[in-house]
Amino acid sequence: MPKLRALMIGAGGMAGGWIRHMLPRFSSEMEVVGLCDVVPQTLQDAADFLHLPPEARYARMEDAFARADADFAIVVIPPAHHREAVLHALRRGMHVFSEKPIADTWEAAVDVWRAVTEAGRKMAVIQNYRYTPRIMTVKKVLSDGALGRPRYIMARFAADYRVRHSWGRFRHEIRHSLLLEGAIHHFDQIRNLAGADCEWISGREWSPGHPSFDGECMAQYVCQMTNGVMGNYEGSCLAASAQNSWHQERYRVECEDGAVSVGADQVVRVVRHLGGGRVRTEEIEQVRPTYDGHLHIIHDALAWFQGGPAPETQLSDNIKSTAMLFAAIEASERQATVNVREKLRASGIGA
Ligand SMILES: NC(=O)c1ccc[n+]([C@@H]2O[C@H](COP(=O)([O-])OP(=O)(O)OC[C@H]3O[C@@H](n4cnc5c(N)ncnc54)[C@H](O)[C@@H]3O)[C@@H](O)[C@H]2O)c1
Repeated sequence: MPKLRALMIGAGGMAGGWIRHMLPRFSSEMEVVGLCDVVPQTLQDAADFLHLPPEARYARMEDAFARADADFAIVVIPPAHHREAVLHALRRGMHVFSEKPIADTWEAAVDVWRAVTEAGRKMAVIQNYRYTPRIMTVKKVLSDGALGRPRYIMARFAADYRVRHSWGRFRHEIRHSLLLEGAIHHFDQIRNLAGADCEWISGREWSPGHPSFDGECMAQYVCQMTNGVMGNYEGSCLAASAQNSWHQERYRVECEDGAVSVGADQVVRVVRHLGGGRVRTEEIEQVRPTYDGHLHIIHDALAWFQGGPAPETQLSDNIKSTAMLFAAIEASERQATVNVREKLRASGIGA
């Protein structure tokens, strides 16, 4: 089968990781035939790494989409530019592979969903944290069924970004930075661990007025999933105590016959009450997937673009995590409980 051709939008930051560490693993299935970045030096460095000729290097995405001949676009730029990139890609008949979140507003995310659906193209969204060995191990414990049905999930993200721009410049300058850039992963994970979509969500995001962040960078939410499982989220970008930063988030799933948890030490534990206050704690050996994180989704999406089955994080599923995200923002603004299924329905998206 001929190699798939990709137009890559974004060359620095996370995109640099894609170019240097992830995509080379798939060099027999795909090649980058065009690259775009607004920062000239970043573009040059990454394009040199890819051995791209001058005519395949673009400073503006309009030019990149007008000239590059590709099967799909990879979008790894800040969320405020995602909609523009996806709409350009669809006009050229390309499939799309995008970093999360789908977009920076609910209106833009719905535009993306509608445009992709009407164009009949495929779009996969990166939610790499579903596919880390620690989470796949927690999922395996849950699906094995020995703990019975899940009752509720506690999720904690806590990272010390008290130094301005320590989490990348734009995240300290936008509104809703924790929710848009962080909690989209954690909300998606709650859906993943619950095995259900979000029914309603209530809570607050806020800014305590710290000079590191212009926008909201702390949050606490409660939600209920469509199978009755409850979720509880604590998030902070100003964590001055125990850290549960990236790949160290704490999740605890309380089930009928025990709980399974993972946290900063990466150990998956099952805890069962034996009666009389005695508990038994068991450390669970972690699964070893062939592809984890980003690689898992890239592998699945490339197969999908070539006619294989759709990945879990395809747009039609990921829009439900995105609806949960923007329902959380709305819940905070309106000081209300927001029905996520209603939000999807009101936008014409079947839930
Ligand atoms: N899945 C993950 O674990 C993970 C981790 C980090 C970032 N991300 C996501 O990746 C995306 C990019 O984040 P980042 O931290 O790399 O951001 P960034 O600010 O570092 O930007 C990435 C690159 O995009 C370029 N760029 C910005 N606007 C552009 C435009 N209009 N056209 C072309 N190039 C443009 C920048 O010059 C930069 O080189 C975001 O959606 C973010 O949420 C995902």
